[in-house]
Amino acid sequence: MPFIRIPQSWELSESQVTLSSSYYNRRHFLKTLIGAGVGASLVPLSGCQPKSASQLSLETTLNLPQLDARTNPLFAQSDRPLTARELAGQYNNFYEYGGSKKIWLKAQKLPLDDWQVTVGGLVKKPRTFDLDGLKKTFPLEERIYRFRCVEAWSMALPWLGFPMNKLIEAVEPTAKAKFVRFTSFYDFAMTPGPEIHLGGLPWPYTEGLRLDEMANDLAFFALGIYGRELPKQHGAPLRMVVPWKYGFKGAKSIVKIDFVDSQPATFWNTLIPREYAFESNVNPQVPHPRWSQATERFVGAGPDFSWERRETLPYNGYGEYVAHLYT
Ligand code: MTE
Repeated sequence: MPFIRIPQSWELSESQVTLSSSYYNRRHFLKTLIGAGVGASLVPLSGCQPKSASQLSLETTLNLPQLDARTNPLFAQSDRPLTARELAGQYNNFYEYGGSKKIWLKAQKLPLDDWQVTVGGLVKKPRTFDLDGLKKTFPLEERIYRFRCVEAWSMALPWLGFPMNKLIEAVEPTAKAKFVRFTSFYDFAMTPGPEIHLGGLPWPYTEGLRLDEMANDLAFFALGIYGRELPKQHGAPLRMVVPWKYGFKGAKSIVKIDFVDSQPATFWNTLIPREYAFESNVNPQVPHPRWSQATERFVGAGPDFSWERRETLPYNGYGEYVAHLYT
């Protein structure tokens, strides 16, 4: 049975809440691929549908077990209100589940049983962790970070997780390791974003950092948000949070981490290199080729989507932590 979602009266349409240029252009790009016949096979609409909205509410998808974590005093506050949990949890980018922001229900198809992440490549101590193993090895802390999407919208989010440099300490990269590649879960049958599951896209979603970027105190792995385990739409069970870079650098649902000697290929940079650079630090002075990055639309405390126009900050306001990496 095809999934039809009737929008609530209080919901703005996606084109109202996304910068129209970015909304149009990412999708236009994908449509162009379809038009050009890139990849013949679309996932059929029937057969891999999630439960209907009446069976699974947004609240159910967000109301997950609580996680114990200490608050990191350096990141206990933000210069703006926290984005409301219900807004962040229903306005997501997760292209494995489709090109819309409203993928929260489709993303419930993400399988988490037996989840593991393997960490290897140029390291002295390769490791494989399951979720319990990660929680036992790395004490969790809470950090409120600003989050800035390349599409010029932003949020303030309370993540629970651990600094990436703790993982570096655990696996001991060799002297040859200069970059790190992060790979998201991908299974054609379980990531039902029909219009974009084309042979021409470089699945699985991958992202990368320089090793010294990963070692920076700010670079973070999240296992939770808003005091609870990470909802699937936010990239359960483990995702990257790199707050001085545009949001697409934060790969979701990571299953593999490889330390490598040269800059790895990444999903968006492979697709459209002139628009999505490998480095992609938030920079109000460097426009995206098709829109300005000088300001952003902030999704606030809710309960409804109300958008506040704000100046974009260099490095998303985290220059004191990271500017020295780019001199
Ligand atoms: N990770 C995967 N695997 N697939 C994606 O489509 N989208 C990225 C990033 N990580 C994406 C991803 C983009 S463009 C953004 S803005 C953020 O996830 C959105 O995170 P959120 O939905 O939790 O706000």
